[in-house]
Amino acid sequence: MNKESFTIGMVGLGVMGRNFAFNMVDHGYSVAGLDNNQDKVEALKQETGQKDVDGTTSPKEFIAGLKSPRAVMMLVPAGDAVDSVIDELKPLLDEGDLIIDGGNSHFTDTNRRYKALKKEGIHFMGVGISGGEKGARNGPSIMPGGSEKAYSRVKDIFEAASAHVNGDPCVAWLGQGSAGHYVKMVHNGIEYGLMQLIAECYDIMKRGLGYENQRIHEVFADWSEKELSSYLIEITRDIFVQPDDKSNGDLIDSILDSAKQKGTGMWTSQDAMDLKVPVPTIDMAVSMRDLSAFKGERTKAENILQGPENNFDGNEQQFVSKLYNAMYFAMITTYAQGMALLYNASEHYDYHLDYERIARIWRGGCIIRADLLEDIRAAYKRDDELPNLLLDSEFSEVINNRQGDIREVVLFASRYGIPAPGFMTSLAYFDGYRSGRLPANLIQAQRDYFGSHTYERTDTDGTFHTRWNEQKKDNQ
Ligand code: 6PG
Repeated sequence: MNKESFTIGMVGLGVMGRNFAFNMVDHGYSVAGLDNNQDKVEALKQETGQKDVDGTTSPKEFIAGLKSPRAVMMLVPAGDAVDSVIDELKPLLDEGDLIIDGGNSHFTDTNRRYKALKKEGIHFMGVGISGGEKGARNGPSIMPGGSEKAYSRVKDIFEAASAHVNGDPCVAWLGQGSAGHYVKMVHNGIEYGLMQLIAECYDIMKRGLGYENQRIHEVFADWSEKELSSYLIEITRDIFVQPDDKSNGDLIDSILDSAKQKGTGMWTSQDAMDLKVPVPTIDMAVSMRDLSAFKGERTKAENILQGPENNFDGNEQQFVSKLYNAMYFAMITTYAQGMALLYNASEHYDYHLDYERIARIWRGGCIIRADLLEDIRAAYKRDDELPNLLLDSEFSEVINNRQGDIREVVLFASRYGIPAPGFMTSLAYFDGYRSGRLPANLIQAQRDYFGSHTYERTDTDGTFHTRWNEQKKDNQ
C-alpha cells in the first residue's frame, strides 16, 4: 500500500464497509481498507482494480497509507468490535486524527468513546448510516454526530456519497457527542413501528379478508403510488410476488414467522422509558417481535385458546380503503412518537437537534424514507420547536379526518380476533394525547391511598396527602 496517499480509511470490509468504500471511490476519493480477513481484503482489491482503493490486513500499513491528519471510518458490528478497533488503532494515530464509527452503536457507548478519545486529542464521531447494502453502495442517509469541526473534514465526502433528493444531500451534521447515533436509533425505532403496522395490514388482508398473495401485492402496489409511497411499502409490494426457489409456492409462505432483532428498536423503547416519553407503537413493535419468537408456545396455545368465529361479510374494497387510511394515520403517529422522543432527548442530552434537518436527511437513502417526510419537514419549517407533529395545523387536520377509518380497522381486528396492536396503540396514543383530562387522577389517589405518595390538586398549588377511608362521607 502506498504511503500517505489515501484520503480516508475504512475498517471492516464486510458488506457495508466494502460497499461504502466503493461508493466513496466512485465520487473521486481514495480509500484504504483494513480487515483482519485476508479474503475480504482480496475481494476489495479485485472488485475494483482501481488505484484509488487498496486494502491490507496490517493496521500499521493501513495507518501509514493515510494522508495526515487522518480520517479513519469503521463499519464493524456494534459492541466490543468497535472498542477492539479503537484499541488497535489508537497507538498508531496522532493528535488531530479522526475516528468515525458508522455502525449502529448504542449512543451511551459513543459518549464514552468520544470522551476517552478526546483526552488523547483524537476526534471521534458517531455516525448513523441507513440504507442497507444498496444504500451503502449507491447513496445512504448519513446521520453524523460529534464535533462540527471534525465533521467539516469529511463533509464533502459524505455529501458526495449520500443519497440526494431534489439535489439536497441526505446528510447533515446533527449535533454534539452521540447526536448522530441517537437519531439513528430513533430512526430504527420508527422503522420497527412501521414494519409492525405493515405486517398487521398483511395479517388483516390474509386472515381477515382471505386475500391471496397476488391480491395483497396489488394492494401494496396501489398504496405505493399514493400518499403512503415509501421504501417499506415498495419492498413489501415486491415481497408478495417473490417465488420460492425451493418449493412451488411464494417465498413469503415458507418464511418462519419468528422475527429477529439486533436491538436498536428495543434501545429506542428503553431510552424513551428512561426519558418518560411515550412511544407505544414502537414499544408494541418490539413486543410483537418478542412474541413472534415464542413460536413453540404459540403453536400450543393455538389449540387451547380460542378466538371469535366470525367471517367477514362486508364490502372488501371499501374495507381496504379504510385500511389504507388507518395505515396513513398510524404511520403519522409513529413518526410523531419518534420525533417527540427526539424533541425531548435534544434537551435532555443537550444535542440541540434541528428537526427539519432530520426530516430532510431521512427523505432519501434510509429505510424509513417516505413521501410523508416532505410534509414532516414542512411542519418543522412552520415551527422549529414543535413538541409533537400532531399539533401541527396540517397534520392535525389530516389525522382528525382519518380517525374514523382506523377506529373501524381496530374494531375489525377485535371482531375477527386478528392481533393489530400497532393500530390499537397508535389510536390509543392519539386518543390519550388529545385528552385534556385522563384518569390519572385515580392513579394518584390510589398511590396516595396505599403508599402516602401524595397528590397535587386541580384547584390549589402544593402536594397533599389524605388519610383515606378515615374520613367517610356523612351518609356512609
Ligand atoms: C438501516 C437499518 C439497519 C439495521 C436493520 C436491521 O437503517 O439500514 O436500520 O441499520 O441493520 O434495521 O435491524 P434489526 O435486526 O434490529 O431488525
